[in-house]
Formats: sequence, structure tokens, C-alpha cells
Amino acid sequence: MHHFSYRDGALFAEDVSLAALADEVGTPFYCYSTATLARHFDVLAAAVKPATVCFAVKSNSSLAVIRTLAARGAGADVVSEGELRVALKAGVPANKIVFSGVGKTERELAFALVSGIRQINVESIPELETLDALARRMGRVAPIAIRVNPDVDAHTHEKISTGGAQHKFGVAAADALAVCRRAHEMAGIDFRGLAVHIGSQLTDLEPFRAAFAKLHDMVVALRDAGVPVAHLDLGGGLGVPYTADQEPPTPAAYAQMVRETVGDLGCELTFEPGRMLVGNAGMLVAKVIYVKETAAKTFVVVDAAMNDLIRPAMYAAHHDILAVKPRQGDARPVDVVGPICETGDTFDRAVALPPLQAGDLVAFATAGAYGAVMASTYNGRPLVPEVLVNGDKRCVTRRRPSYEEMTALETVPNWL
Ligand SMILES: Cc1ncc(COP(=O)(O)O)c(C=O)c1O
Repeated sequence: MHHFSYRDGALFAEDVSLAALADEVGTPFYCYSTATLARHFDVLAAAVKPATVCFAVKSNSSLAVIRTLAARGAGADVVSEGELRVALKAGVPANKIVFSGVGKTERELAFALVSGIRQINVESIPELETLDALARRMGRVAPIAIRVNPDVDAHTHEKISTGGAQHKFGVAAADALAVCRRAHEMAGIDFRGLAVHIGSQLTDLEPFRAAFAKLHDMVVALRDAGVPVAHLDLGGGLGVPYTADQEPPTPAAYAQMVRETVGDLGCELTFEPGRMLVGNAGMLVAKVIYVKETAAKTFVVVDAAMNDLIRPAMYAAHHDILAVKPRQGDARPVDVVGPICETGDTFDRAVALPPLQAGDLVAFATAGAYGAVMASTYNGRPLVPEVLVNGDKRCVTRRRPSYEEMTALETVPNWL
């Protein structure tokens, strides 16, 4: 469910024409829909109520997007000091922020402690020891969960699977009980519970079920051993439909599975969704530069590229490509490519699109998650602007940098 639709043959974000936005902002640009963000958040929050829903900032770090979600009650899941600062700046209350990640530095941990965040999800014994010593030095007690690696196969793309024994994430299930007992005894640590996150873009509930069932048994074992466990952080990972025929589990079905697996424990629950909140709340809009016919193929060369949306190049991911104002005529197979000097800079191959000409606009759908946030300036290309739409209102929430700004942080040594 999203709020991008055709009106009189032209694609709109809510009540704003994408073609009009392209005139105002220039292409390429990202466009987000407030109504879609709000709906996804509200539906999930209602399904898992009274849990805390911490938006995974890694999926979209736009201040405006985070503030939109925070205004509806979202917390934040962050993985760096930078993301923590962004979440605070966007207005997320510190007591609704959880900090995940395998490589938090002492500086980052200290900043988290000073900020008074809800919880640090500790992923290893060295991190636990570092945090305990740091908190005691600072005269504080660090609220933590131990992130467990449950060793389950998430059945998703290998680069975004995180819950297998071969992955760098979390404390191995076999060691977790001992680590939790130890954490419980540390003077600088307030051991609150367990966390898990097994991967992203999961389209099946069974891997979640397997992971949460393991967590359940660990909580029981810890309590039997006299270690109180009051909190469970069940991570993110619920997938979104990238094509019309994909039907990932609904928030209601997900919430039901959560109740079935850990509902009897009486724990306070936290979730860390990213993609499912913002994925189809965003589109990347680009302009056709050339239509290039070769003996082998027709290439539609657009002004967006892999630096703006890296998911197709990085994960072989699919994004539906929509003509913003489809022309009459038969669809025919084309390769949609960007201008970057790599063959990997291909959005889709042999995709059937209506006739396109130079100057036409196309939109890459479901680009709100892991889109703008993963962009780079590769090939000297400025980061693309982000626009937030709300009904008939629009705001450029991040403008396109000038070429001058792109080199502003650089220094040429005085010997040159
Ligand atoms: C620890 C953690 N939490 C939450 C998420 C968000 O995942 P998703 O965007 O699939 O919901 C991620 C991303 O992989 C993650 O690493």
C-alpha cells in the first residue's frame, strides 16, 4: 500500500505531480510520501502494540523522514555515532533509541551513555568488557541487551543475511547464556535482555519463528538461572514487495507469530524495522538522456545511476520502472542504464517499457529504503536531492550540492 498513483495519465506522489516536481527540483531526485510513511508506521505499531518501534535509521537517514516517524511515536535503531546524532537531531527521544552494530568504538559508546539512550545491543565479549569498564569510569551504568546469533538461515540475499553462525553478528547461541550471566554481574552493566536481527527483506515468517523460538528458550533458561530478563529486541527484517506478485507477510501475521513465539514471556518488546516503513514510501525519479539503439539491444540511458541507487548493482535487486507520463504505444524490451562507466550501472535488462524518448521521466519504485542513504558521489556526481511530499505540500528536504561544495572539504598539499 502506497500513495503513488496515476492521475490522468501522469504519476503523482499524493497530490503532487512528479513531473511538476522534476521541473522545480531538476532530475534525478528522491521523492518520499508522508502518507505512506505514516500508514506503514501506524499499521505496524498497532499490530505490535504496546511494543516500541525503533525505525532503523540505516535504511533512510533523512531528518525529515525520521521526524515524520518520530512524530507518530517511533524510536530509532542506530548503528553509529553519526546515526545517533541524526536521530537525536530529528527529535527522537533518547529513551527510544537503541544502538546496534558489531564495531561500536569506545568514543561511540561514551556518546551513547552521555546521551542516555534506551539500550546498547552488545554483540561480543570484548564489546561487553569495553562498555563495562567505560561505564564504570564514567560513573554510569549501561543499559544493554545481548544480541544473540541464533544460527538460522534467513532465506534472503546473502549480503543481507545476518543470523547465521558464519556471520559476524551477535554472540553465538551456545555462548549467549554464559555471556548474559556475566553481563548481569558487571557493575557497569544493566542487563535488560536479548536482541536478535537475522537479516533484511525476509519474505517468509519461518526464519523469524525459528529465531524467536530460540530466544524464548534462552529467556527461560536465564530466568531459571536467576537472571531476570525483562526486554526482547526482535530486530527488523520484514520484507516489502518489489514486484506486484510478491506478498510478504503482513504486519498482523508477523505480530501474531511474535505472540506465538515469545508472547508468554511477559517481556517488553522492541522492534527495529527499516525497509518495511520506508521502502515503498519513496521513488527515485530520473530523466531519459538518450535512447540508444544497437544491433543487440535498445538502451534507455537515464540521468540516475548506480551511485544514486546501488541496490540493483550491489544485490541484483529489482525496482519496478514506471514511465511518469506513459506514451501510447506497445511496450518493448529495453535495458535501462545510467551514465556511469561500469556495465554494472544497469537498473534492469530487457524490461518491457512503453515508448520512451529523450526528456521523458521514469520513476524507480520502492526506492525509499537503502536508496539515498547508500548513495555516493562516484563519477563526480552530486548526491541527488530528497523531497518530502505531504498531500499537496512538498519540501526539498536535502538540496543538491553545488560542484563547489563537493570539493569543499578537500585540501591540495602546499607542495603541489
Ligand atoms: C541490527 C539491525 N536492525 C534493523 C535493521 C533493519 O532491517 P530492515 O530494514 O530489513 O527492517 C538492520 C538492517 O539490516 C539491522 O542490521
